[in-house]
Amino acid sequence: MANHIVFLSLVALTLCHLAFAFEPSPLQDFCVADSTTSARVNGLACKNPMNVQEDDFFFSGLNIMGNTSNPVGSKVTPVTVAQLPGLNTLGISMVRIDYAPWGINPPHTHPRAAEILTVLEGSVQVGFVTSNPENRLISKVLQKGDVYVFPVGLVHFQRNVGYGNAVAIAALSSQNPGVITIANAVFGSNPPIAADLLAKAFQVETSLVDQLQSKF
Ligand SMILES: *[C@@H]1O[C@H](CO)[C@@H](O)[C@H](O)[C@H]1NC(C)=O
Repeated sequence: MANHIVFLSLVALTLCHLAFAFEPSPLQDFCVADSTTSARVNGLACKNPMNVQEDDFFFSGLNIMGNTSNPVGSKVTPVTVAQLPGLNTLGISMVRIDYAPWGINPPHTHPRAAEILTVLEGSVQVGFVTSNPENRLISKVLQKGDVYVFPVGLVHFQRNVGYGNAVAIAALSSQNPGVITIANAVFGSNPPIAADLLAKAFQVETSLVDQLQSKF
């Protein structure tokens, strides 16, 4: 009997986990983010539906090329709930990514979203790494029209391997996917992680960690 209850509890827990692992389903047609309220909820509070306008569901400008004049040679233009309040509670968002020749979108992860990316222009090498212990790199070169998926949470990257500029559009399964850029999180945290700790973690001299920390 006790075993039976434990088993049922486990099943219930598993189902709860499945149901709530990602963004909850909307309980109404829409919940346009209200940027004026101080109410704190998981996501953003809803604007009064009577005050909702067509522009709450609208964003313009993904035709505009991002400025890739930066050390990595890429630029992400986001359309998340911060830019498009109508995305609140819908569990989706979009980005445009521009790449200068040989520009990279450095290794990063989205804590709350899987990502599906399509190349609109150019040749883009994409890759992601599976979790421990395999840490297998799965990588491919994409051409215009090709689509790739980065599973939720996994570290991934892109690199323009063509001659001209490259452009991609990606959709993400969160209104607010979040981005953790590995180098910035590890070497650019504020305050910094102790250099001797990172030296041991990366099995290198502390001076190399100092150098990396000075860059991020
Ligand atoms: C692009 O960014 C660089 C570096 O921040 C800046 O110097 C340049 O003026 C920007 N170009 C445009 C067209 O905004």
